[in-house]
Amino acid sequence: MAVGIFDSGLGGLTVLQAVSRRMPQVPFVYLGDNKHAPYGVRTADDVYALTTAAVDRLFDAGCDLVILACNTASAAALRRMQESWVPREKRVLGVFVPLIEALTERQWGDNSPPREVEVKHVALFATPATVASRAFQRELAFRAIGVDVEAQACGGVVDAIEEGDLILAEALVRSHVDALKRKMPDPQAAVLGCTHYPLMEDIFQDALGQDVKVYSQANLVAESLSDYLDRHPNMLGSGTESLFLTTGDPRKVSMRATQFLRRQVEFQSA
Ligand code: DGL
Repeated sequence: MAVGIFDSGLGGLTVLQAVSRRMPQVPFVYLGDNKHAPYGVRTADDVYALTTAAVDRLFDAGCDLVILACNTASAAALRRMQESWVPREKRVLGVFVPLIEALTERQWGDNSPPREVEVKHVALFATPATVASRAFQRELAFRAIGVDVEAQACGGVVDAIEEGDLILAEALVRSHVDALKRKMPDPQAAVLGCTHYPLMEDIFQDALGQDVKVYSQANLVAESLSDYLDRHPNMLGSGTESLFLTTGDPRKVSMRATQFLRRQVEFQSA
């Protein structure tokens, strides 16, 4: 039994960390497409081609269920994959739905019609490709009415984090929050719609002010996945080993990941 976790690079390790803590008994196979990161500035067709290739690799590693822990892949490729690519006995799930279920006060997997919810003004911070896809607004519209979403494409933040330049990342986050606030002066909630942004959560919170509720995905995805596996135990797959795979240079990626997770991590070539 193994569950696949896919991200364009290192950001998905925030999700991997949360799911492994929540379900220590489940082996997870992580695949980072570091060779092709960042995805956030690619076209939807490009993201689709890269994501399907990576998910195929995770199927080969014994995973019947794969989580796209990458918002850009979830936004730009997931729907098309689910409609026409995922084999019948496999499942690929994204990271938007758990977040939106939490934001709209729903139980995990509650597909009842949209209704009025408490939150009315939501700021979305995400990569340019995620913002362009409008996938967040679409998924939200299935579940809630009357919610105003203002999206801010946070160019440069992922690259700065991947390069380890946190001073630049902080400056960029503050300027993106300023830009958002010019369009929506008083958001009630803010969604960090990119796996890398939890590393900057304190900066987002500080720049937004303490009254804004900041939704970060890792723990929400972990809770929702645990609930999903309780309901679908057959989706655990045949793999038995936890693995870290990368399309990039395993030595370099292992070093960065070890810094990122603050524990020794060994990546292998995908
Ligand atoms: N991990 C991707 C996400 O969550 C962002 C990184 C990228 O642009 O590749 O959107």
